[in-house]
Amino acid sequence: MRRGNPRAPGAGSAALRRLLRFIASFLCVAPLLCFAAEPVPPRYSGGAASFQANCAVCHGAKGAGQPSLAPPLLAYPARYAANPEGRRQLTMTVLNGMFGGIDVEQKHYDFKMPDFAHLDDVTLAEVLNFVVFDLAHAAKDTQPLTAQEIAAERSHPVDGAAVREHRTKLLSALGL
Ligand code: HEC
Repeated sequence: MRRGNPRAPGAGSAALRRLLRFIASFLCVAPLLCFAAEPVPPRYSGGAASFQANCAVCHGAKGAGQPSLAPPLLAYPARYAANPEGRRQLTMTVLNGMFGGIDVEQKHYDFKMPDFAHLDDVTLAEVLNFVVFDLAHAAKDTQPLTAQEIAAERSHPVDGAAVREHRTKLLSALGL
């Protein structure tokens, strides 16, 4: 008495072996793919550390912000850094904080940004450079913020509402 086709199980396991080899080929290249996907180290690594310690709680580790609360830092800071009043805006914001609510790319954010005047000039310049270059990818010809620019702004403190007013004027000048 014949029980079906005796070659069928063999053919089936050959197909299974081919499938396993196919899967194994992916497993071999997976570590290479993982390696290629490694994030590029930040250009401003000191600024990156200060950002994680002081800013990430509100703006997120990658600067994407939090809906309705803290704005993303991925676009506007790069535009600001290419303009003298924009550079002042960045230094004013970290030295004095800001409140009153702002719009970024047609979305509204409203929460209080504290001031970071307790951090020294070099640290603040570095944290802003991390934001401008590592997070917001400023154009290549943009000059890094300097400790001197922070010091110049520190010499005339203003309140967070004035920082916001300066921002309103800046945005209309930049067409944002
Ligand atoms: C407690 C939350 C909080 C922390 C911490 C914080 N921010 Fe902010 N940040 C805000 C809020 C809220 C705004 C918008 C202010 C408003 O609504 O008027 C803002 C605005 C900004 C802006 C202006 C963005 C724009 O489009 O004009 C920059 C730049 C910025 N923050 C950078 C930083 C940096 C750098 C740090 C760390 C040194 C930091 N922030 C820490 C909440 C925070």
